[in-house]
Amino acid sequence: MTIEPAASTELSLLQEFLTAHALPAEDLEARHLEEFLVCREGDQLVGCVALEPYPPDGLLRSLAVREDQRGRGLARRLVDQLVERARQRGFTTLYLLTTTAEALFLHLGWLPTDRAEVPDAVRQSSEFAALCPASAACLRLPLSPRSPGERDTRSPPR
Ligand SMILES: CC(C)(COP(=O)(O)OP(=O)(O)OC[C@H]1O[C@@H](n2cnc3c(N)ncnc32)[C@H](O)[C@@H]1OP(=O)(O)O)[C@@H](O)C(=O)NCCC(=O)NCCS
Repeated sequence: MTIEPAASTELSLLQEFLTAHALPAEDLEARHLEEFLVCREGDQLVGCVALEPYPPDGLLRSLAVREDQRGRGLARRLVDQLVERARQRGFTTLYLLTTTAEALFLHLGWLPTDRAEVPDAVRQSSEFAALCPASAACLRLPLSPRSPGERDTRSPPR
């Protein structure tokens, strides 16, 4: 299944998909769409993930995979592609909040982080400021620039 940027017409589709997977969607606007990666089966969404840019940092949000496609590495592929795009664009650290997937992100190499250490711009995002409970786990992924030809050993291709 191909992972690609969301289409500019997919705002309500993504809002419904995220809401169906118990993730925040009420703050999503059309301008967020260009930072979404999606995976489709026909005209149905199967998975998505998004980056909210706060250069040089970013917030990963809205990772979801349809129930019948879970456990096959799709979330890993979505996260890998988002991370690689962010690295290529010069982002230095990604952050996220999660109430459901802390173990998965630790498995993918993300690091537990104190909210107080998160840059102000990221902390002012709606996820940090309003949508995610204080009990949500906070994680970060430092992105080192990769030299040409170097392999990503943290997330090998499937
Ligand atoms: C969380 C979610 C996106 C995972 O999707 P998925 O496609 O089943 O995940 P993957 O198959 O890509 O798993 C990626 C890796 O994490 C591992 N993993 C998955 N769940 C894990 C867990 N609870 N603890 C530790 N590792 C876990 C997998 O074994 C896999 O590792 P591997 O590649 O080394 O085998 C999916 O369950 C979902 O949509 N949940 C509802 C929405 C949600 O909670 N999103 C998270 C918001 S932050």
